[in-house]
Amino acid sequence: MKSNEIRKQFLEFFEKRGHKIMPSSSLLPDDPSVLLTTAGMQQFKPYFMGKADPARDFGMKRAASIQKCFRTSDIDEVGDETHMTFFQMLGHFSFGDYFKKETIEWTYELLTQVFGISKDRISATVFEGDEKIPFDRESYDAWLKVLPAEKIRKGSREDNIWGPAGPEGPCGAANEVYVDSLEVATLVFMEYHSDKDGNLVSLPQKGVDVGWGFERIVQITQGAKTIFDIDILRPFMELLPDELPERTKRIIIDHLRASMFLLSDGVRPSNKEAGYVLRRLMRRLFVYEYRANIVWSVVEGILHDMVHEYGEAYHELFSNSSFISEELLLEREKFLKTLEAGVEFLKKMGEVDSQSAFKLYETYGIPYEIIKEFGAERAEKLNRAEFDAEFKKHQEISRAGIEKKFGGHGMLLDTGELKAADEGELKKVTRLHTATHLLQATLRKILGEGIRQSGSDITAERTRFDFSFERKLSDEEIKKIEDTVNWAITNKFDVQMKEMPYEEAIKAGSLHFFKEKYPATVKVYSMGHFKADPPEIFSRELCGGPHVKNTSEIGHFKIIKQEAIGAGLRRIRATVE
Ligand code: ALA
Repeated sequence: MKSNEIRKQFLEFFEKRGHKIMPSSSLLPDDPSVLLTTAGMQQFKPYFMGKADPARDFGMKRAASIQKCFRTSDIDEVGDETHMTFFQMLGHFSFGDYFKKETIEWTYELLTQVFGISKDRISATVFEGDEKIPFDRESYDAWLKVLPAEKIRKGSREDNIWGPAGPEGPCGAANEVYVDSLEVATLVFMEYHSDKDGNLVSLPQKGVDVGWGFERIVQITQGAKTIFDIDILRPFMELLPDELPERTKRIIIDHLRASMFLLSDGVRPSNKEAGYVLRRLMRRLFVYEYRANIVWSVVEGILHDMVHEYGEAYHELFSNSSFISEELLLEREKFLKTLEAGVEFLKKMGEVDSQSAFKLYETYGIPYEIIKEFGAERAEKLNRAEFDAEFKKHQEISRAGIEKKFGGHGMLLDTGELKAADEGELKKVTRLHTATHLLQATLRKILGEGIRQSGSDITAERTRFDFSFERKLSDEEIKKIEDTVNWAITNKFDVQMKEMPYEEAIKAGSLHFFKEKYPATVKVYSMGHFKADPPEIFSRELCGGPHVKNTSEIGHFKIIKQEAIGAGLRRIRATVE
């Protein structure tokens, strides 16, 4: 079966069983607690947590998708027979609808009837139970209907409890499904919400989150030797020079494919967050290409073919294709200059030990292999273990920094949207929060009512506001937006909070979030001149607060940056002074 046939069969199977087929969401998630999309369930988190109503949003309590995913944890493993950074996940989901029995029956039916895999190659694992979560007997019994007992293993928490994706979120007992020794699917039965400290509370509704590794099931059905031998990867491997080691080919193809998808979803190479992940991938790709002396047009040719192969399923690749190759080329030119400077520097160095090697890596981005190769006898004593130890030391230092920032411990305020560690920060985020409401109202006045908030994150330094919009904003538009927000500030609008029934709030035109279920009574924050006749309302939103009392407290509003963060999604960063 060709890959495209497998995609089609999977979606049809679940469509016939009452699932709404949903498109893949962007690799850049609207959930600020994760860097990149790692699983199909991510776009459905609000439905799992009972915060949004799937019946209202797409008419059913079941969904299926093929999701673009990226896992940073696998970057250094790429090159072997199984690991990839970017991959696709076949998923189906139940939000308070079917549970273990149907899920396991369908999994077995898919494997044997649709993918044609014989029963004796299939096995599964279920949770053995511990002091917090009991043995998963329901799954065990369902598997026992189709598999002999020796094919059902009991596993520990490490393998058979899944989640949460991010610091907190839904989680539950999981089954792993294997064909021979390859894990092909994970069935997660969500029953709990885990908070940041790992405490579990039962979810108001149970959920099912199933993820199949698409490339893996393709590998099995095609009888391919490794994951890089499947029909949507092997042809690209073959376009690389024959004499390259297989490992190098895999790294180049994996990193090129992943960079293509990340660029297409609006990630730009940078030194932070998702941009840094992309930069690492691209640089590793350039180093291998440089070392192997591959002509760049060969890589561009492969990229061109990849856009065509994958564009059928992910149309955004077509519209972004010239942009993707331009960005790659730009980063390559920048990096190769640094790389060449680093190699020159290396040639002049005395003996290279692990510390100076790590410095070279940090300053010039020259990886270990290149240092060994270009350092020749001066790098003779340098060994991988010492270099890795140095690397780890620095990773731990930076991780400690990240945990300090995002650990959530000792935070005075952390609503998900607003974060403040002390009173000073709280004052600043409160001003920024009110400014964010003014910004949203302004965007709608200037760019049209169609724009919709897709996320926001406010720290003491800045507000970050994500919204749906198709194109880059012009300099004039940015200026007009700034001026309008500042106009609203200098107009000294009062900020008024009223509690009212949800229906009434919506009727009054309050902005609110799609994919979110609100309580019966909600808080509505309005900003304007209430005493004018008729009252002038500049902004009205459902919101938990806190806000300043009068917009004049905000100070001067300034947009620092605008970026694209995905197909039809933009991000604005702004400060107040
Ligand atoms: N969300 C589950 C996984 O990532 C299915 O394996």
